[in-house]
Amino acid sequence: MRFIQLLSAAGLIAPAVLAAPAAPFGHSVSDVQSLDKRENLCNLKAPPQLCTPNATVTVEETAVRAYKFYRAFVVDGDPRTMFSLMDSSYIQHHAGYASGPNAIWSLFCNGRKIGTEASTGWCFDASTNMSYAQYSTTDRWRWVDGCVHEHWDQNERIPSKDKCAKLPTNGTAGHYVSG
Ligand SMILES: *[C@@H]1O[C@H](CO)[C@@H](O)[C@H](O)[C@H]1NC(C)=O
Ligand SMILES: *[C@@H]1O[C@H](CO)[C@@H](O)[C@H](O)[C@H]1NC(C)=O
Ligand SMILES: *[C@@H]1O[C@H](CO)[C@@H](O)[C@H](O)[C@H]1NC(C)=O
Repeated sequence: MRFIQLLSAAGLIAPAVLAAPAAPFGHSVSDVQSLDKRENLCNLKAPPQLCTPNATVTVEETAVRAYKFYRAFVVDGDPRTMFSLMDSSYIQHHAGYASGPNAIWSLFCNGRKIGTEASTGWCFDASTNMSYAQYSTTDRWRWVDGCVHEHWDQNERIPSKDKCAKLPTNGTAGHYVSG
């Protein structure tokens, strides 16, 4: 609905249209829903939801979460999902940024996409609980109790493919780009 409110605020649609319950200005309901999915959440000062640490989350579950995090961060540009997988510590090793999810919220709240799955790399190394995303940069994150807990992005290298978890449900999830 916020999208429609923005159009209204910009004078692009008359307020009367807002009273119509569905399919405003010729878009189907599903069009509007897909716009909603590509959320720009920059009206929020902080992430809507963070990850609650849970010591019973298994390494296998963590691998699936790490893939979801990579998708949300790199491929989908989905800040809601991305931050829902980060704990409140988010210990930051990038100079100039404080720790904590709020310190980077403004960089990601607009739902920007970084690359496709084919042009970027992903890995979760179950022996270290580290996940990686490789695009123009390589990021490394440490997972604790099912949540992203710590981040590095200086001189990181994505592990060789044999060290990366294979997800049970999907052969594409261990996708690896060398370089
Ligand atoms: C903690 O994780 C386990 C394993 O995924 C799950 O069954 C349980 O419901 C979780 N506990 C809470 C409080 O979310
Ligand atoms: C990885 O996390 C699991 C819990 O998900 C824990 O049992 C294991 O000890 C951790 N491994 C390392 C190397 O920290
Ligand atoms: C599995 O991979 C296919 C592409 O080969 C993709 O369309 C699908 O969404 C993926 N499923 C999951 C659960 O990630």
